[in-house]
Amino acid sequence: MDSSKFLIIGANGQLGTALRQKYPDAAAVDSSELDITDSKAVAAYDWSNVSAILNAAAYTNVDGAETAEGRIIAWKVNAVGVANLTRTAIANDIPLVHISSEYVFDGTQVPHHEDESVSPLSVYAQTKAAGDTAALIHGKTYVLRTSWVIGEGQNFVRTMIGLAGRNISPTVVGDQIGRLTFTSTLVDAVDQVLSTSAAPGIYNVSNEGEAVSWADVTRAIFSLMGRNDLTVTDTTTAEYFAAKPESAPRPLQSAMDLAKIKATGLELRDWHDDLQQYIHNELNQEVK
Ligand SMILES: NC(=O)c1ccc[n+]([C@@H]2O[C@H](COP(=O)([O-])OP(=O)(O)OC[C@H]3O[C@@H](n4cnc5c(N)ncnc54)[C@H](OP(=O)(O)O)[C@@H]3O)[C@@H](O)[C@H]2O)c1
Repeated sequence: MDSSKFLIIGANGQLGTALRQKYPDAAAVDSSELDITDSKAVAAYDWSNVSAILNAAAYTNVDGAETAEGRIIAWKVNAVGVANLTRTAIANDIPLVHISSEYVFDGTQVPHHEDESVSPLSVYAQTKAAGDTAALIHGKTYVLRTSWVIGEGQNFVRTMIGLAGRNISPTVVGDQIGRLTFTSTLVDAVDQVLSTSAAPGIYNVSNEGEAVSWADVTRAIFSLMGRNDLTVTDTTTAEYFAAKPESAPRPLQSAMDLAKIKATGLELRDWHDDLQQYIHNELNQEVK
């Protein structure tokens, strides 16, 4: 596997950044260098030396996708853009690794298996489901479905660290249940499917460990920060979003069955262990 021939798309996002760290020799493009919604630009790109497409690009603003403007961008990036990449992957007969979300499900089944029918609640979720459908037309596509991604960028853990820094005891949703996925885990999964030539198709990917609520994750963050003076008050999704009717609906159950990716030989770390390391790094970063 020659990773210098990989092309990382969406290079500056949370996952794109982690992929660049894993594969420093790979080519990597952000949206200014390759806008995946532009079919002509995608067709004109020199694919002759690309051995695999790693698509970390997406419109990830879940609430923004509910707006008139965001809805259009979300469909363009998450559905049309993925179709453009799929067409190219087919034409060049190269694997496409695409990242999806457990938001494609309405969250009524638990845990989510790879063969569950999609039932998206929000515009973002609909566009991700459409992207999956397009990507899977190619016989060499890996769709890695993931949840609650934490890496280099704006994310839930960083938001809660910021609240702690301002001595705020937050009210957090206690009825959305899932597991964090650190970008290192996602990158390991990308590497695993490609390096083992795993069977193409859908794979669920998150960290291992107990499935918990966002409120529980917040308690773990504060505890690992040594901020047990802060309290976390549970609220329900319905209560939290009653005041924000413009927000996107979210699935209540995000936990995924991980047996398929583990059967490839990949060992998944407990989210709590990676959270501890992440917070250690973040706090050391702040001190410097
Ligand atoms: N974040 C989560 O909690 C979560 C949960 C489940 C699944 N996922 C999925 O995981 C994947 C990675 O998420 P992430 O958190 O790493 O996302 P992210 O940090 O929001 O990064 C997304 C990247 O996509 C790029 N992009 C947007 N429009 C583009 C376009 N038209 N052409 C090329 N690049 C474009 C952006 O680049 P520019 O800044 O240059 O525009 C950005 O760097 C996504 O597929 C997402 O749907 C995420």
